[in-house]
Amino acid sequence: MSGPAKIAILVSGRGSNMQSLVKAAGDVYQVVVVASDKPEAAGLAWARERGIPTFALSPKGIGKIAYEAALDGALRAAGAEYIALAGYMRLLSDKFVADWRGRIVNIHPSLLPKYKGLDTHARAIEAGDAEAGCSIHLVTEELDGGEVLGQARVPILPGDDAETLAARVLAEEHRLYPRVLAEWLTR
Ligand code: GAR
Repeated sequence: MSGPAKIAILVSGRGSNMQSLVKAAGDVYQVVVVASDKPEAAGLAWARERGIPTFALSPKGIGKIAYEAALDGALRAAGAEYIALAGYMRLLSDKFVADWRGRIVNIHPSLLPKYKGLDTHARAIEAGDAEAGCSIHLVTEELDGGEVLGQARVPILPGDDAETLAARVLAEEHRLYPRVLAEWLTR
């Protein structure tokens, strides 16, 4: 590999996973842009304050095709080679996924293939599961369906609700994502 891989990170909100990826950047990868579909996302402000290039555009009013074309252009202009989704809550189109085939990873707050989609923690508690966790996976056209690259597990404790479980999982997310991203980029 010639120099660090150039990563774009996509966020829709708080961006705590994005922050853990930025903090772990170095010889293996560098973060060249943080982009969001939500111009008001807290994660964008955090990145901007640290001098990381940002791109913000809402699809509202312009439509998905124009939105994704602009996003794609911004990521390529920033020199991105890979995309890490970090709490990006919008489904990417089949075209976008195909254009970046094999170069998009996502973090999902469940032990995939269990609980694809939303409300993962409530569903795990409701099902009476003994443990929950998070997964890093390749993004394909199938929602949360690509190859799993790494997982971390936590116990579900008596008295847990979706919020307490989410916090326990999130702490693991912050450790897992930088490690698995770096392993994947160097495998
Ligand atoms: C994280 O828990 C992430 O796993 C989840 O959203 C949260 C974002 O938090 N992602 C998904 O649910 C994707 N479908 P963050 O903005 O603080 O990283």
